Parts: sequence; C-alpha cells; structure tokens
Amino acid sequence: MRVFLTGATGFIGSYLVPELIKAGHQVVGLSRSDPGAAQLTGAGAEVFRGDVNDLDRLRLAAEGADGVIHAAFNHDFGQLKQHSEADRKVIETLGEALLGSSRPLVVTSGTGLVRRAPGDGPAAETDPAMSSAEFPRGATEEAADAVVAKGGRAIVVRLPQVHDTHHQGRIAHHIRLAQQKGRVAFVGEGENRLSAVHVSDAVRLYRLALEEGRTGARYHAVGEEGVPLREIAAIIGEGLNLPVESITPEEASDYFGALANLASADLAASSLLTRQWLGWDPVGPDLLSDLHQMDWAGGRP
Ligand SMILES: NC(=O)c1ccc[n+]([C@@H]2O[C@H](COP(=O)([O-])OP(=O)(O)OC[C@H]3O[C@@H](n4cnc5c(N)ncnc54)[C@H](OP(=O)(O)O)[C@@H]3O)[C@@H](O)[C@H]2O)c1
Repeated sequence: MRVFLTGATGFIGSYLVPELIKAGHQVVGLSRSDPGAAQLTGAGAEVFRGDVNDLDRLRLAAEGADGVIHAAFNHDFGQLKQHSEADRKVIETLGEALLGSSRPLVVTSGTGLVRRAPGDGPAAETDPAMSSAEFPRGATEEAADAVVAKGGRAIVVRLPQVHDTHHQGRIAHHIRLAQQKGRVAFVGEGENRLSAVHVSDAVRLYRLALEEGRTGARYHAVGEEGVPLREIAAIIGEGLNLPVESITPEEASDYFGALANLASADLAASSLLTRQWLGWDPVGPDLLSDLHQMDWAGGRP
C-alpha cells in the first residue's frame, strides 16, 4: 500500500516508517523541514514537503495514497484548543480526499480521552471519548466520526503513554518538575495509574489498523493496563537521587501546576478487545524497565 504518513518525523513516526516499510508498504512522509526530510529519506521513505495545516497540500498528498495515517500534532498545550480544532480540519480534509473508496484513514487519539467516573474500570474501546466541549482534544474523535458519517473509512488508534528508553512523554514533565523542586512527589497513596505501551508495539498496532481496521473502530494500543504513579516516582527518585514523598490532593496544584489533575487521575485502560479484534499482542519492554534504562547520569530528559 502507498501510505501517506503525517507526523512521520516525530517519536511515533520514526518507528512507524520502518514498521510499514518492513511490511512491504511504500511510505510517503510529511515533513515541513530540511532535517525532517533528510531523516525520512534516510529511513527509506518518500518525502512530501508541507505543513499539516496547509489543507490544499494535504488533500493532494492524500489523493495520491492508498491509505493515510495521521500522527502529527502540535503539542504546545498552551494552545490546545486551537491545535485541536486545527486537527479537526486536518482529519476532515484527509477524510474528504479518500471519500468514494475503501481507502483507510487511521487517526491518533488517546486512552486518556475516554470519559470515566471514579470507580469505573479501565477505559475500554467501546467507551466514548470526551467531547471537545469537555476537553479540546475530543475534536479528533469527533472529526473521525464525521468522516464515517459521510461514508469514509476512518479508524481510531488510542494511545496511552508511549515509551522507549529516551522518550517518556508525560513522565518527562514529572522528571523536570522533580529536578526543579529537588523532590519527587505523588498524590495520596500514589495508587492512581498510567497505562502504557512500548513504541514498537504501538506502531505494530497502527499497521494492523491500517491493513485490517474496521470503519469507526477504536483500537487501544495498551501494553500495560496501569502502572501506579508511586512506582514511577520511586524510579525517578532513584535515578535523580532525590527524596520521594506523598503530597495531599490540595498540595498537588502547587507541585504539579497545570499537570495537577492528570497527576491525581487514574488513567488505567484496557486493550482486551483490540487484542481479540486484531490479534495484536504487545511484547515490548514495560514502562518501568525503560525508565530504569534511561540515561539518568546524562541529565535526561
Ligand atoms: N507519545 C505519546 O506518549 C502519545 C500519547 C498519546 C497520544 N499521542 C499522540 O500521538 C501522535 C504522535 O505523537 P508523537 O509522540 O510522535 O509526537 P511528536 O514526537 O511531538 O511528533 C509530532 C509530529 O507532528 C509533526 N507536526 C507538528 N506540527 C506540524 C505541522 N504544523 N506541520 C507538519 N508536521 C507537524 C512534527 O513534525 P516536526 O518534526 O516538523 O516537528 C512531528 O512529526 C500525536 O497525535 C500525539 O498527540 C502520543
């Protein structure tokens, strides 16, 4: 399949390009910079130059593809609403370009977007995501649904915390906070959890979703249902040689700032249905092993 990939130069994209090529696909990766283009060429992909928000260019790229995976996103969280609404337009544009065919459009959402009440079990594939009115990034799945409503073949991959030994997403913020504050904190008993997946497993799921995904499905790239924040804090403390302590929910905003709600939330998620539906079996290293393997002495992240 000739696959147009946005976000091809990012963390996930840098693993997804070789995963697709190894499986016999031809990859056309979007890049807005010379270094990005060089990275893609080096990985064996074709380069399509452009900004993801240049919708005319985007349409052109999607029209020439047998399938599209959309993994670009601007992670400037200060402008989350603006970037989420831009993502809606991107997905609508890609969806329109593929209409009138069974060509798949795989889009990226997060397991953390699933609406859950305290005491609910882990987030499931069949659970709805928050609306954009509840949380701006809800725009992504709303846009996927709009593509399906028009007859398109949109498929959603929901990601938990994706990791290798260099990239830890949200945990990188916890590490930076600990470095700034000289101590590592978790809220209450620290039993609230973060679901996780090794990046090699996540990209295999993208490929399966592209090749076999069902229209409108939500697939959960979850390798570990939930890793307690207390255990994550313990490894950060060991790595940075800093004290680890419990703080109260009232103290959370002082320590975690904008991350306070997330740091207190239980974000467990299941991939039971995804494994059944696609025969996906995550085998990569677990989150705590990758955290242990980080280059702590080198001052990461
Ligand atoms: N990593 C995780 O743990 C995680 C968890 C949940 C959801 N996700 C989602 O998964 C997707 C991929 O995440 P990631 O970790 O790979 O992110 P990342 O490393 O930050 O990469 C973002 C990608 O988007 C591209 N991009 C951003 N703005 C662009 C623009 N205006 N025009 C063209 N390209 C643009 C970047 O290109 P440049 O190289 O040019 O900057 C890069 O290729 C995102 O939707 C993210 O929200 C990730």
